[in-house]
Amino acid sequence: MKILFTGSSGPKVGATVAAVLSKQNEVYGIDLMAGPTTSSMADITQIKNWEPYLLGIDVVVHFAALHAPHRATHSRADFYRTNVDCTAALIDAAKHSGVKRFLMASSTSVYGRAMRSHERAVWVTESLTPVAEDIYDETKLAGEALCREAFADDFATIALRFSRSFPEPLPDMAVYRLYRGVDARDVANAFSLALKVSLNHFEVFNISGKTPFLQSDCDQLMRDAPTVLRQRSPDLAQAYERLGWLLPCSIDRVYVTEKAQLKLGYQPEFGWHHVLSSADFLSSH
Ligand SMILES: NC(=O)c1ccc[n+]([C@@H]2O[C@H](COP(=O)([O-])OP(=O)(O)OC[C@H]3O[C@@H](n4cnc5c(N)ncnc54)[C@H](O)[C@@H]3O)[C@@H](O)[C@H]2O)c1
Repeated sequence: MKILFTGSSGPKVGATVAAVLSKQNEVYGIDLMAGPTTSSMADITQIKNWEPYLLGIDVVVHFAALHAPHRATHSRADFYRTNVDCTAALIDAAKHSGVKRFLMASSTSVYGRAMRSHERAVWVTESLTPVAEDIYDETKLAGEALCREAFADDFATIALRFSRSFPEPLPDMAVYRLYRGVDARDVANAFSLALKVSLNHFEVFNISGKTPFLQSDCDQLMRDAPTVLRQRSPDLAQAYERLGWLLPCSIDRVYVTEKAQLKLGYQPEFGWHHVLSSADFLSSH
């Protein structure tokens, strides 16, 4: 398969996904920065004619975007230009060039205010209606809406809403893998599966780490997360105790990936153990 991949040099997730897809496909990356799978260094907001980039392409994977950290440095207009106008132009051009599939990198952040509850943790499935909290959520949802409108029998569109995936303090990153974080390699596997899945209409999928929690845990997760963690993930609780790390007192949401498991065959592999072992952390403690 020939894939046009925007944001292919992204150090957080994009570069990993592009590298994994390039093992079994021809990946043509576009990014502002150089990278192993980036063949064109270009600003996608400046591309007026996508035709040369789309020649012979089967699938577009669209990662390049302004995201949460850019809220401090970029205007609303910048967000709309990059995340919405550019996505619209790319979808139009892809559809007219005979591209068969468009995969969009979206975010669990779009659930926004729908995840604010003080009573119990929110069980976040795709049926929870997103309520944008900021310009990032707003423009990601607008991008998803463009994908939804563009779906056709010969132009499948899918948005993968993945959860946080960037370097952060290990005690946070490890436990987040149980309810609100994901390894870039699992995101890459989800995109690989989305290249092939057959769908009758536009779909969104949550992509996150494997959770040990049940929906019936939601009350107690908010009030007393350590008790639930000790019950559902005793190995993690013991590791935290050994390392002198504190378990979170309260957990406010659980990203649920059952739909992706069922329809894509998604199985997250890289959980909290990998956070610790990837830094050779356990060997030194
Ligand atoms: N990392 C996360 O936690 C996370 C979570 C959910 C969704 N996402 C989504 O993943 C996508 C990429 O995120 P990432 O985590 O790999 O971020 P990243 O910052 O590591 O990568 C973004 C890449 O896009 C490129 N880019 C940005 N604007 C561009 C432009 N105008 N033209 C060409 N290239 C441009 C950047 O140079 C960069 O290499 C975004 O769509 C983001 O919304 C990220």
